[in-house]
Amino acid sequence: MTARADFQGWIAAHQARFEDVLRALLPRADVAPQRLHEAMRYAVLDGGKRVRPLLAFAAGELAGADVRRVNVVAAAVEMIHAYSLVHDDMPCMDDDVLRRGKPTCHVQYDEATALLVGDSLQALVFQLLAEHRLSDDAARQLDMIKLLAVASGSRGMAGGQAIDLDSVGKALTLPELEFMHIHKTGALIRASILLGAHCGEISAVQLEKLDRFGKLIGLAFQVVDDVLDCEADTATLGKTAGKDADNGKPTYVSMLGIQGARDMAQRLHRDALDTLAGFGDEARRLRELADFIILRKF
Ligand code: IPE
Ligand code: IPE
Ligand code: MG
Ligand code: MG
Ligand code: MG
Repeated sequence: MTARADFQGWIAAHQARFEDVLRALLPRADVAPQRLHEAMRYAVLDGGKRVRPLLAFAAGELAGADVRRVNVVAAAVEMIHAYSLVHDDMPCMDDDVLRRGKPTCHVQYDEATALLVGDSLQALVFQLLAEHRLSDDAARQLDMIKLLAVASGSRGMAGGQAIDLDSVGKALTLPELEFMHIHKTGALIRASILLGAHCGEISAVQLEKLDRFGKLIGLAFQVVDDVLDCEADTATLGKTAGKDADNGKPTYVSMLGIQGARDMAQRLHRDALDTLAGFGDEARRLRELADFIILRKF
């Protein structure tokens, strides 16, 4: 088997298995309030690349973690991500009608429901992290819960989203743009890797390397998202192409041009792989995911 086929098989197996994990952890659609539960399932299930869960599984494998523990943290980061997309698409934010090839949550249901889907998913995440065992060490489990809370809130994803909205029509400096991207997208990607690793055994030195890897690849992820918004088509993306320019968003493409943004992503990719130099084959899936993040077409 080629390395590529092996990696594709690894992705497909985890994606299929993980869909069942999500199905089981989400509230059933026949339990009241049915419409809200149905909308939560609509926002989370049957779509998306599941990059954050895959990063958690890869880091978990590196740290020798029990996959049943990684399942919970992977579901947690994916549910925070799905909620962030539901809110990101609302008329008060990016105002988009298509997500993961389907009508956005507020179009399929209504705005109030979309708001509540986000509220409910976020609360469910912290319920799950509190009720499942993630580590034999209770203090470490509390640290893990705090890590995701910080990555999701005003000093993480939500803060990045606030900066994004505040930046419409403005020319940011490159450090300002990097700060925004590291928060709105990088924080959750970084947390996915750290949480997967925390489910197993990992030294402080190794954790520091994974943290650096996560920071670089998280930023690279949003640089590539900016490029794809400009270069790919709506059918391939499953979301409306060209939205950033339409909405007047500063992006790596608006600041550096397409080629400049692509070069930036390549540089971040190289630097990210360098941080894994001290690891052997146990970091193979993380390296492959870094390649996937840079080379992806959607
Ligand atoms: C899109 O994320 C939003 C960003 C943070 C850039 P993804 O590209 O991971 O979206 P899905 O989960 O695959 O739909
Ligand atoms: C989204 O950034 C970041 C979060 C949802 C936190 P974008 O607004 O660029 O994401 P897309 O392009 O709509 O997926
Ligand atoms: Mg946005
Ligand atoms: Mg958007
Ligand atoms: Mg985008």
